[in-house]
Amino acid sequence: MPKVLIATEKPFAAEAVQKIKAELDKAGYPHSWLESYTDVKDFHAAVADAEALIIRSDKVDAAVLDAAKQLKIVVRAGAGYDNIDLAVATAHGVVAMNTPGQNSNAVAELALAMMIYMARGKFNGKSGSELAGKKLVLHGFGNVPRFLAKMAKGIGMDVYAYDPYISADVMAKDGVKHLDKVEDIFRTGDYISLHIPATAETKKSINWNLLSLVKPDCILVNTARKEVIDEEALLKAFEEKKKFRYVSDVEPECGAKLMELYADRYYATPKKMGAQTGEANVNAGVAAAKQIIAFFEKGDTTFKVN
Ligand code: 3PG
Repeated sequence: MPKVLIATEKPFAAEAVQKIKAELDKAGYPHSWLESYTDVKDFHAAVADAEALIIRSDKVDAAVLDAAKQLKIVVRAGAGYDNIDLAVATAHGVVAMNTPGQNSNAVAELALAMMIYMARGKFNGKSGSELAGKKLVLHGFGNVPRFLAKMAKGIGMDVYAYDPYISADVMAKDGVKHLDKVEDIFRTGDYISLHIPATAETKKSINWNLLSLVKPDCILVNTARKEVIDEEALLKAFEEKKKFRYVSDVEPECGAKLMELYADRYYATPKKMGAQTGEANVNAGVAAAKQIIAFFEKGDTTFKVN
């Protein structure tokens, strides 16, 4: 039976570990676990005899793939797969998959919490503002923003989205208004929530051309990837727009500077927290295990991304 390695620098919740183990045991697949590792060499050693690999944000680069001589499949338990070098995986004959949608509710809940946290002045005891009646604009309309749209509408927000791949009709079914241009996101939103992957096209795409358009007291929420922000433009937005706020799930490179200069208008999680719930870990982890079993048993490549 194929040997599965679960390598998670940021471990799954205990209940997820138990359920992933049960899934693999039921199918008779041997498994080993490398959690909270601090040296990638440990990852390289552990992956040497694995035929299948489950990861989270762990980097699967050429060094890992070179070390993984038996590897047939890597499943990213989560949505974003910018941590896998897809070209090298393909060259090594390794199938890469993600588990789309499995942790989306958790990420959407964090985005909502972050909006409220900033609207209430990071709980500083002073008067803040409410979300009801405000405009929320979603940059991207995949799984996470769909959950967030539902929550925001429940609160009484007016929800808009821009996604060049999704039609106005589809958005209208969720009660979301369609925006035509990327610039409209930045002109329209009292709150702007980013839900784009980190790709060659999107890296640093949130630049000054866009940030210069935001409303004076806009709150920008980033539960996507820190790389999509042009950090020079971000700093300029803080300098020029005295009420602009930014909240991010993981610290940008300029995080220390932002904290020093604008602590009341900036917050970032020290470690990526979006998918850090027991429920999301169970959903994504068990889905990853099932996808590996279906791949070996039936040749199922449904969630292949390379
Ligand atoms: C994702 O892309 O699914 C999220 O960013 C979650 O990442 P994590 O598994 O490292 O928490």
